[in-house]
Amino acid sequence: MSSERTRPIIAIDGPAGAGKSIVARRLAADLGFTFVDTGAIYRALAFVARQRGVATDDAGALGKLAQELVASRSLRFEFGGTGTKVYLDGGDISPHLRTSDVGIAASLCSAHAEVRDAFLDLQRELGDAGGVVFEGRDIGTVVFPHADVKFFLTASPQVRAERRVVELQHKGENVSFNDTLNQVQRRDQLDSMRAVAPLRRAKDAAIIDSSSLSIDETVLLMSQCVRAFDFSSDEA
Ligand code: DC
Repeated sequence: MSSERTRPIIAIDGPAGAGKSIVARRLAADLGFTFVDTGAIYRALAFVARQRGVATDDAGALGKLAQELVASRSLRFEFGGTGTKVYLDGGDISPHLRTSDVGIAASLCSAHAEVRDAFLDLQRELGDAGGVVFEGRDIGTVVFPHADVKFFLTASPQVRAERRVVELQHKGENVSFNDTLNQVQRRDQLDSMRAVAPLRRAKDAAIIDSSSLSIDETVLLMSQCVRAFDFSSDEA
């Protein structure tokens, strides 16, 4: 573990719909750690960009907007046990962020180096003290390459699409399986093919395929892995 931290950082990366959020939140609760959902940062940017008429392919304007949001502290995040809350200038924008449209827009916005650079320090500050479970796409590769434990959580596109359909049905949205599967595959492609910080497994990340695992089983597996680590014996 790094000399500045006294508690570990756990990185969970993986494709959209693999169950990272719920699993990361539950794992953090089990360990008594904080949970940070980094996708919420990119979703918030995509939402504000749309409000302000900034196009998802305008790297310069998006980078400036991201910098401005960080510098002005207009965005506030609460990564709690029941879900992530995001406030823009004090107003709760969380209910608008979990839609498929915002997911795709976040994926497009997050492909620009200018945007990723603007959010790097913010994410690192959130992990300063350690004792954090981070969930995202590039946590183990870029944001915290020296994270103490790294997981790459995945599941087949079909299983991820099925889970997404059920999640949206619970919210009262009726979506077709095929449309959802197309969206899942489109996001996989966008997130993995981008030039900057693409979604890929860190060499030292444990792969967990949750296709046939329940949430409980996945959390148990991860927490056993984390508890098997002797953090105190790591080099400073
Ligand atoms: O995890 P999510 O679905 O809320 O993320 C939304 C998008 O944000 C995702 O498609 C890609 C981007 N993202 C990213 O590029 N890097 C992260 N660490 C987290 C999310």
